[in-house]
Amino acid sequence: MTKRSRIRLANGVVSAGIVVFFIMHASIGSIVGLVPFQSGLAWAVWIGVACAAIHVALCVATSIQQLTDTVRPPSINKKRHLALKWATGVFLLVCAAVHVVVVRTAGAGDMISSVTGVIVIVALAVALAAHICVGSKSLLKDLNVDRSFRPAVRGAACTFAALFVLAALVGFGLR
Ligand code: HEM
Ligand code: HEM
Repeated sequence: MTKRSRIRLANGVVSAGIVVFFIMHASIGSIVGLVPFQSGLAWAVWIGVACAAIHVALCVATSIQQLTDTVRPPSINKKRHLALKWATGVFLLVCAAVHVVVVRTAGAGDMISSVTGVIVIVALAVALAAHICVGSKSLLKDLNVDRSFRPAVRGAACTFAALFVLAALVGFGLR
């Protein structure tokens, strides 16, 4: 296995891990928004954040590899797709940073008690789904999984996002 494919495989494994981790975090977080309770597990989210930081570092490496590949230079389409992956990733990062500030200032139970709070959760849910959808093709490729699973990955990401938005709206309505 070449160094290049080792890095891609590592990124695929880390990416799949953080997808599952943050979908689970958002699912538990959506319940906290509806029925406020103290899980005492907020610290555990930072393990996921550390894995996301490793993911970003690996993405820098895979992006450099793609852009400097002289044997199979990237097409315009591939470069555009890579730019879209960076744009959705940075959008997700910004939404997550705002989310942490809201959780730390307003408190987890009150994060959707204002319209602004609901907008932050909606933006976060959209950003997570958009980034997973845009990355779904390379995720399956890096993990050597048949690309026919792409609609299933995208469908699941969008369904979860819709449920997170619904939970935030219901939680806001109950206040
Ligand atoms: C719709 C999606 C999400 C919902 C409903 C949600 C909800 C929550 C809630 C309720 C907490 C507080 C947990 C507690 O105090 O026990 C929390 C904390 C946190 N969330 Fe989320 N979350 C979502 C998505 C995300 C995403 C995508 C990220 C990062 C990429 C993230 C990063 C964090 C972090 C770092 C904390 C810990 C903040 C602290 O230490 O005070 N969340 N989230
Ligand atoms: C909860 C956080 C995140 C999740 C769940 C996530 C998920 C994913 C997934 C599933 C892929 C496709 C995997 C692959 O190419 O093997 C991917 C690729 C990518 N992500 Fe993320 N990501 C997150 C955070 C970020 C952040 C914060 C950034 C940038 C600031 C980012 C930038 C990228 C880039 C550039 C790629 C494409 C890498 C390539 O094609 O070589 N991601 N991400």
